[in-house]
Amino acid sequence: MAITRVGVVGCGLMGSGIVQVTAQAGFETVVIEANDELLKRGVGRIRQTLEGLTEKGKLDAKAKDAALARLSGAVGLEHLKACDLVVEAMTENQALKNETFAKLDTICPPHAILATNTSSCNVTAIAAATKRPAQVLGLHFFNPVPLMKLVEVARTILTDDAVVKTSTEWVRALGKVPVQTKDATAFIVNRLLVPYLLDAVRVYEGGLASLEDIDQAMKLGCGYPMGPFTLLDLVGLDTAMYVAEVMFEEFREPRYAPPALLKRMVLAGHLGRKTGRGFYTYGS
Ligand SMILES: NC(=O)c1ccc[n+]([C@@H]2O[C@H](COP(=O)([O-])OP(=O)(O)OC[C@H]3O[C@@H](n4cnc5c(N)ncnc54)[C@H](O)[C@@H]3O)[C@@H](O)[C@H]2O)c1
Repeated sequence: MAITRVGVVGCGLMGSGIVQVTAQAGFETVVIEANDELLKRGVGRIRQTLEGLTEKGKLDAKAKDAALARLSGAVGLEHLKACDLVVEAMTENQALKNETFAKLDTICPPHAILATNTSSCNVTAIAAATKRPAQVLGLHFFNPVPLMKLVEVARTILTDDAVVKTSTEWVRALGKVPVQTKDATAFIVNRLLVPYLLDAVRVYEGGLASLEDIDQAMKLGCGYPMGPFTLLDLVGLDTAMYVAEVMFEEFREPRYAPPALLKRMVLAGHLGRKTGRGFYTYGS
């Protein structure tokens, strides 16, 4: 099946990135937001990003104009009725996603593939909320979408092979690198990354070394671009704790349980860069 028209639900951090790369890759792209104001803000951010790239000489003006011409925004899922593929990038909430996919199922053409960008919701539950579970899968992009190459293609036990194949080819057409995984909480990257970050908090809590030395050790000793505490501050301590809790709920393994210090930092509002303070302090 050829994908020509793509819908994206949610124009926040991830949705706006997905819309940008989709429109730049030559697909007609329709983005849906919850209301006009959010839509205006989201589409405005994409326009600003593309214009910024042109100003810096990284994208020629013609390509920018063509990408913007392929992009349209609307409020209301009914505007996705002509899409071959829809990528949902709404707020992380299982009930909201299930409900949205049930609606998309009644709106989108019978051949359309319905994908979710969820990091921790249950993709099988989302698929089961539709009457086309064989055409539902996870397409997990990484932040910032225009820069990060990886997309985890997460099939459920209900997903059709042809749907995985078409979705994987579409990911490649965006210039991204797909990896195949199953619908199991946290997929590949978070399944391995989250316990590492939680262990870092535990060894710091236990007094093994300072924050700075743990970060330095993992950077220089393992060749990682940043240490675990710099990364936790970037991801957001609340987000990391939420994913850990969902993983703990799913697997019931103590190594996925958020450490006491992480919980307390979240309660204290020390969420990382976004609040100016996490493991490190930012700004003035
Ligand atoms: N932030 C990340 O690093 C990251 C990485 C990979 C995947 N994800 C996943 O991507 C999804 C979105 O995350 P985000 O960080 O972009 O969140 P975000 O809060 O920046 O964006 C979510 C957007 O969904 C919109 N929305 C909510 N209800 C809606 C509705 N009924 N109709 C249309 N739009 C609606 C919100 O207005 C908001 O703009 C989540 O499922 C998250 O797990 C996030």
